[in-house]
Amino acid sequence: MPESVVDPVDTVTEVPVAVVGAGPAGLMLAHRLGRAGVAAVAVDLRTREEIATTHRAGILEADAARDLVETGVSDRILREGHEHEGTELRFGGRAHRIDFRALVGASVWLYPQTEVFTDLADARERDGGTVHFGVRDTEVLDAATDRPRVRFTAADGTRHELRARYVVGADGSRSTCRGLVPEALRTRYGTEYPFAWFGVLVRAPASAPELVYAHSEHGFALISQRTESVQRMYFQCGPDERTEDWPDERIWETLQARVAGADGFRLAEGPVLERSVLRFRSFVQEPMRWGSLLLAGDAAHTVPPTGARGLNLALHDVKVLAGVLLRALGGEGEAALADYQPLALRRIWRAQHFSSWMTRLLHTAPGATPFELRRQLGELDSVVATRAGRAYLAEQYTGWPTAA
Ligand code: DHB
Repeated sequence: MPESVVDPVDTVTEVPVAVVGAGPAGLMLAHRLGRAGVAAVAVDLRTREEIATTHRAGILEADAARDLVETGVSDRILREGHEHEGTELRFGGRAHRIDFRALVGASVWLYPQTEVFTDLADARERDGGTVHFGVRDTEVLDAATDRPRVRFTAADGTRHELRARYVVGADGSRSTCRGLVPEALRTRYGTEYPFAWFGVLVRAPASAPELVYAHSEHGFALISQRTESVQRMYFQCGPDERTEDWPDERIWETLQARVAGADGFRLAEGPVLERSVLRFRSFVQEPMRWGSLLLAGDAAHTVPPTGARGLNLALHDVKVLAGVLLRALGGEGEAALADYQPLALRRIWRAQHFSSWMTRLLHTAPGATPFELRRQLGELDSVVATRAGRAYLAEQYTGWPTAA
C-alpha cells in the first residue's frame, strides 16, 4: 500500500531545499538561496511572534552586518543599529578599554538578534519565500537517500509534505535533526559549565557607551544596551536559579556589586521588564552532513554566550552552506557538499575556543580558591597590559574572514 494512503497529506510540494528551523540561520539560508533563484521552504515549531520576542544576543560582526545590507535583507541595521569600535573589560574595580578600531581596524554592530530575525522574516515575505511558522509533528524522512522529505502539520491543521533534494537542519540548540545522524556515525564533543546567566531587560538610560564585560570576586556581569531607554544586562548565577526569587532590588544589588570599583562606576537603575535564566554549554556534533541532511547553526554546535559568537557563527555556516548547495544543485552534485564541513568547521572550533576562553576568563567557578581568583586577575592583566593581548581579544571578538 502506498505510504500516502496510510498517512495522507493535504499538500505535497516539490522544492530543492527544505529547511527545518526558521530562526536567523534557516531564514538567511533561504534568503541566500532565493536570491540565486533556488527555492527553499522553511518550517518552524515556534510562531513568528515567539521567535521575535525571545531575547537573544545583540552583537553582529561587521561582515555579518554588511551581508544583511548587501544581500538585500534590509538596511535597517545602518539606521537603528550601533557600531561599536571597542569594548570594556572591567576587573579589579577598574575599566580597561579594548579599542577594536585601533588594534585590528575592525568593529562590531549592536543590533539584537530579534531585529535580525524580524528583518529576515519580512524579507522572506517581501520576496515571496514560503515559511511555515507554528507547525507541529515535523518529521524528516529518507534523509539518507537523494529524495528526502519533510512532513509537518501546519498551524491551520493541514498536513504537508515537502519533497526536496536537500534538507537543512537549522533547528537550534535542541535540534531534533542532528539526532537523525546514526549514533554509530556521529561524534558529540562538549562541556558543561557550573553556572548560567541571569538576563534582564530594564527600563533605564544606558550606563556606558559600549559593552562592559565585568569580572569580580562575586562573579561575572555584562552590561549591554538596546535603546535609549531600554538596556540589556546579564549576571552569572547558578544553573538552577529561579526568576521568581529575584525581585528588582536584588537584581540591582547584584549587578552593582559586580561592577563596583574605586572609580565609583554605578549603573543607572530602573524597573526590570523581563528576566530569564540562560543555561549554556559548549557543543559540536560531527559530521555536519549525513546523506541529504546538512546541519547548520546551533543545531550542529552551540557556544556559551560570552563573546557573542553564536549568531555570527550560524550566519557564517549558512553563507558557506548556501554556496555549497548552489554548486551541488547547479550540476556539481554530491562532490560539492564535501566542502561544507571543512570550511565551516575551522571557524566553529576557533569560536569554540574563544567562547570557552572568554567564559573561563571572566566567570568565577563555584568554590574557586583565592589562588584561582588571583590567577584570573593575572590572566586578565596579561590580556589588557600588552598590545598583543588586546589585539588577540579584538581579533577574535570582531570575527574572522569568511571561509572561501
Ligand atoms: C549581548 C549578549 C552577549 O552574549 C554578548 O557577548 C554581548 C552582548 C547582548 O545581548 O547584547
